Amino acid sequence: MFKSIQREVSWDRYRFIVTTLARSFHYNSCEIISTIPNQRNVCIRNFSSQSHKIVKARKYVVVNHFVNEAKPTDLKLVEEELPLLQNGEYLTEAEYFSVDPYMKPYVKRYPLGITMIGTQIAKIVESKNPAFPVGKRIVGNMGWRTHTIVNPKFKDLVFQEHPYLLPDIGDLPSNTAYFGLLEICKPKSGETIVISGAAGAVGSHVGQIAKNLGLNVIGICGSDEKCKWLTEEMGFDSAINYKTMPVASSLSKAASNGVDCYFDNVGGDISSAVMYQMKPFGRVAVCGSISSYNADSSSLPKCTILQPILSKNQLRMEGFIVLHWMDRWHEGIMQNLQWLREGKLRYRETVTKGFENMFDAFIGMLRGENIGKAIVQV
Ligand SMILES: NC(=O)c1ccc[n+]([C@@H]2O[C@H](COP(=O)([O-])OP(=O)(O)OC[C@H]3O[C@@H](n4cnc5c(N)ncnc54)[C@H](OP(=O)(O)O)[C@@H]3O)[C@@H](O)[C@H]2O)c1
Repeated sequence: MFKSIQREVSWDRYRFIVTTLARSFHYNSCEIISTIPNQRNVCIRNFSSQSHKIVKARKYVVVNHFVNEAKPTDLKLVEEELPLLQNGEYLTEAEYFSVDPYMKPYVKRYPLGITMIGTQIAKIVESKNPAFPVGKRIVGNMGWRTHTIVNPKFKDLVFQEHPYLLPDIGDLPSNTAYFGLLEICKPKSGETIVISGAAGAVGSHVGQIAKNLGLNVIGICGSDEKCKWLTEEMGFDSAINYKTMPVASSLSKAASNGVDCYFDNVGGDISSAVMYQMKPFGRVAVCGSISSYNADSSSLPKCTILQPILSKNQLRMEGFIVLHWMDRWHEGIMQNLQWLREGKLRYRETVTKGFENMFDAFIGMLRGENIGKAIVQV
């Protein structure tokens, strides 16, 4: 079902990874606006009678909000004929899509009928805008659609951003791991860090940075294959398969002196086990809580009683969204690039081929079928 290949990243693929990671909390740009039922379509304009080569876009429309695990029938693949380009507009053809955990809880914020949210890298195939020439590539939150007419005047609702040209390496955002680790965990050489969701896009990045900074790095993830990859290829000192090993006792062996930093991607029981092994003045970066993404969002989850360990050990626990560091984007990118060039940072992708397999890639990622970054190649 989940047709994927896995390979080590190249420089070009790194461009996609760094972009999509950092943008993973952005919303659909024009589509959120354009596809709200009964609103004027601002991104995909109304049909013009002028003669032109007809372009048909395929797109996934959200027909049911996800309840518990997402179902293929929650989305409908439809075809849409695009109008002629107007001055200032350009037509893009999607090449790669990012599938990310945030899509699951975030899509509920929007009405049914929108195009499924998400980031893509697309090639400009027709243009009436000199700033966006044919042949260049853009990164944009246009959602799960193959072709898009972008009118650069329009920004997305939430972050007020446009799609942007994929620049040469050196000016790219991608900083969830970098800033979350450095600014919240404030790691010091010789300390011990635990990372949950360790074999995913963010987690595997965090662990490698921590290793570069001289920490003892322990990853928690969901398969022996992932554990092996983390310890044998990504430089992690140890790894715990939370599906087959007891997390608390395994962790107390791997971190016999306790844990200084915890980079939390998952929340839930795994995090409870880690939190109670934190050292005094430990720091916890709350990046995400994927263990809760299938939960019923109509009732707020109960907070586990963490207060005793927080106060006893004077821990600092802080949530973040990477966009907080927009003003320092370049710094993170340049440091990641330097590590990449020095061979201190590596990436792996799980690539699903085919736009028709978007859903499989998405659900596969949520189920843990990916190692490293999950993407779809059209
Ligand atoms: N704060 C921010 O600005 C920001 C930005 C980007 C991403 N994030 C968050 O960072 C986290 C990781 O995102 P990513 O893009 O790197 O995804 P990812 O880790 O590449 O993929 C998701 C992984 O989550 C794991 N998982 C699924 N269900 C789980 C469960 N119930 N318990 C534990 N692990 C589970 C699976 O791996 P296993 O096989 O190990 O289970 C799966 O491979 C997410 O929580 C995401 O929302 C936050």
